Amino acid sequence: MPLRLGDVVPDFAADTTAGHIDSFHKWKEGSWAILFSHPKDFTPVCTTELGAVAGLKPEFDKRNVKVIGISVDPLDSHNRWVGDICDVTGHALNYPLIADPDKSIANAYDMIHPNASDTATVRSVFIIGPDNKLKLTFTYPASTGRNFLELLRVIDSLQLTAKHSVATPADWKPGEDVIIALNVSDEDAKTRFPGYVAKKPYLRVTQQPK
Ligand code: BEZ
Repeated sequence: MPLRLGDVVPDFAADTTAGHIDSFHKWKEGSWAILFSHPKDFTPVCTTELGAVAGLKPEFDKRNVKVIGISVDPLDSHNRWVGDICDVTGHALNYPLIADPDKSIANAYDMIHPNASDTATVRSVFIIGPDNKLKLTFTYPASTGRNFLELLRVIDSLQLTAKHSVATPADWKPGEDVIIALNVSDEDAKTRFPGYVAKKPYLRVTQQPK
């Protein structure tokens, strides 16, 4: 059964380019995490993606998000490839890349979609909260590189909406107005979000909480 939002994600041990991890849950303890798969080492889109994430690492750190990549290629292949990522993108790999040659993690997270490829993972992204529950997931095919700035944007939304009774509208960016959650009564909204604007009874807009 595929993972669903709100599920506790499977724990696992893994060999990575940054050493062995005994427990994914322990490794990310107290943090958010992004686990993202790539189909294959020594391939063009993957090379650009892993470099892009390395370049954004300070932004993930600021948000208390640990990033970790994975593919079913073996560790010696990862270790031979990482130099290319730095050559091409200018960013050295600064987060672990998991080797999953027996596909145990890929299968636990349903990262192999046989109608796309029997052997390689698709481009899956799992955003996992400090409580180890799945907060957001998306899947791209091998031929389409992901937009990792979008990942930062959704992390900002997830972290904001985890703390405050608000939701974020289409194309929201940090600093823009947000929507008051439907389970907040108008009476409570008046004290919690003074000056809010009701565009419709169900669509109440307010400034982004600090
Ligand atoms: C790529 O990263 O470019 C790629 C990987 C697997 C299949 C096709 C393309």
